[in-house]
Amino acid sequence: MGVIETPLDKHFGIDLSAISSTLHAQRVNQKIKIVFLPNPNNPTGRLLDTEQLIEFLDDWAHKPDLLIVLDEAYHEYVRHQAYRSGIELRKKYPQLIVSRTFSKAYGLAGLRVGYFVAPSFVVGLMNRVRRPFNINILAQVAAQAALEDQDFVTQSAIMTWSGLDRIAKELAEYGLQCLPSQGNFVMINAGKPIAELNEFFLRRGVIIRPVDNYGFLTWFRLTIGLPEQMSLVMKLLKQWIEEAGQ
Ligand SMILES: Cc1ncc(COP(=O)(O)O)c(C=O)c1O
Repeated sequence: MGVIETPLDKHFGIDLSAISSTLHAQRVNQKIKIVFLPNPNNPTGRLLDTEQLIEFLDDWAHKPDLLIVLDEAYHEYVRHQAYRSGIELRKKYPQLIVSRTFSKAYGLAGLRVGYFVAPSFVVGLMNRVRRPFNINILAQVAAQAALEDQDFVTQSAIMTWSGLDRIAKELAEYGLQCLPSQGNFVMINAGKPIAELNEFFLRRGVIIRPVDNYGFLTWFRLTIGLPEQMSLVMKLLKQWIEEAGQ
């Protein structure tokens, strides 16, 4: 089984027309079985354009031998007005598969628990191939309790939004570019090959995520944390800029 990757558009968004062209080219020999669409995307934080997504689903979500998966790991952080969740879209496109996780806004990453919503034939197939006891009882109980605690999720999103807004504002003051994000992280252009800044942060106990493996050689992803953690990161970034004479 192979994976075909398609390039992003010039705004770092997922290019649905590039995926469509690839599908058209490859469908002749029926090679593509599943399309994964992360919405929002990691590490860019960009959303799919809703109109383009609906057009894409009109073209591709009714084929009997093609599955479309909307990966909504960061669903709870989205604040864009035009966003339509996959769960809502499934009313019109019942073949759509939507996956979510408790690792992000619910804060349960250590329990390794998530879920997907899919047509029953897909659920049946997953039940045949999944490992036995893949989600333990403690994780299930915690996930159920977490679902009932929507106040926590709201608080988590609000804290993230205020962190994102603050970082965007401060980065603009520092003259650094960042991408508008609908996730709980932001992608930042340090303007230099990223290894040096990564090392600088690591030595001071801060883990950032270089994204040079995606071809973004001067960029890193920063996850939004508590206000005091953000203060530390921004203080260190400022120090690095001053020391490096940027
Ligand atoms: C886009 C996306 N999907 C899915 C996941 C999976 O999260 P988990 O395996 O913790 O549920 C992640 C985690 O980083 C992600 O960024």
